[in-house]
Amino acid sequence: MTRVFSGIQPTGDIHIGNYFGAVQNYVKLGQQFGKDAIYCIVDLHALTNPAAYDPALLTQRTHEATLVNMAAGLDPENVILFVQSHVRDHVELGWIFTTLTPVGELERMTQYKDKASTLESVPAGLLMYPVLQAADILLYKADTVPVGEDQEQHIELTREVARRFNNTFGATFPEPKSVHAKNALRVPGIDGQGKMSKSKGNTIGVLEDMESIWQKVRPAPTDPARVRRSDPGDPDKCLIGDYHKLFSDDETIVKVYEGCRTAGIGCVDCKKMLMPGVERTLVPIQDRASALRRDSDAVRGALERGANEARAIAERTMSEVNDKVGFYRLG
Ligand code: TYM
Repeated sequence: MTRVFSGIQPTGDIHIGNYFGAVQNYVKLGQQFGKDAIYCIVDLHALTNPAAYDPALLTQRTHEATLVNMAAGLDPENVILFVQSHVRDHVELGWIFTTLTPVGELERMTQYKDKASTLESVPAGLLMYPVLQAADILLYKADTVPVGEDQEQHIELTREVARRFNNTFGATFPEPKSVHAKNALRVPGIDGQGKMSKSKGNTIGVLEDMESIWQKVRPAPTDPARVRRSDPGDPDKCLIGDYHKLFSDDETIVKVYEGCRTAGIGCVDCKKMLMPGVERTLVPIQDRASALRRDSDAVRGALERGANEARAIAERTMSEVNDKVGFYRLG
């Protein structure tokens, strides 16, 4: 049996890296596995990010993150969609896992090192982040985790946590594997300086309007070898070439790749040819998001149902875990 689990943080606008790297796969796997596809807005994780967390905005951002996932095609009638803090068992299982995880292993996580290096005082929650992530996944005994490539190390840690628990207390958890969108392992940021990421401020939002996206695309860096319009370029070394692969139809991709290599088209033409695909992909999501924004009961109702569905599975796992760990049971 396949069970899918993934999580997304409500730390601001969902960007096209999230969309192509993860959300599209949530939708696809949701259509395939129905209620065995479980998706979570991970608000507890969002607390670990001092730069992006604001208590005055968290409720609204959680609502928005839910809404964007629904607008992108996640059907809460068909899958389970819920908010992490609504199912308390995540924290409890996370605590049990912290007792099985060496601090040294957590200190070696690259995401931890990157984030901690920017902070003067590092919250312990940031170090524990991947342990909570392991609890998210294993609470539902999920074996399939759709994520971007940046999460690979955390999924490897999840397998180690599962292995350790199983060795200590007997076979309980699967060792989950990640699945990646092959075209979007690591969607580059619009500044051309590596991965698109909220913290780097180099994002294109799924809900961003076309004019604002064009204002970012127009000055974006391209293949540095193409100094003059007449210089041939290498679209495989160009950010806009990467974006065409995500947004454009095959015919356009062939045209711009050929045009770039033969200097038949300039970079501005190539960027203009990107925009119809951007519009075709994002505007329908934006329209559905606007409709959902007018119907907050639909979002709230979905989350309420999702929390109940998730709790039912989580309670079964915790009952088994509590017995295996040896907790005193009343009655
Ligand atoms: P978050 O919210 O930072 O990212 C959500 C998803 O988007 C993917 N992603 C990308 N994929 C390709 N290119 C990019 N530039 C890019 N930027 C982000 C991330 O890989 C992720 O899949 N730790 C998780 C949240 C989480 C989770 C979980 C995931 C908490 N518990 C359990 C899976 C299972 C995260 O980074 O979220």
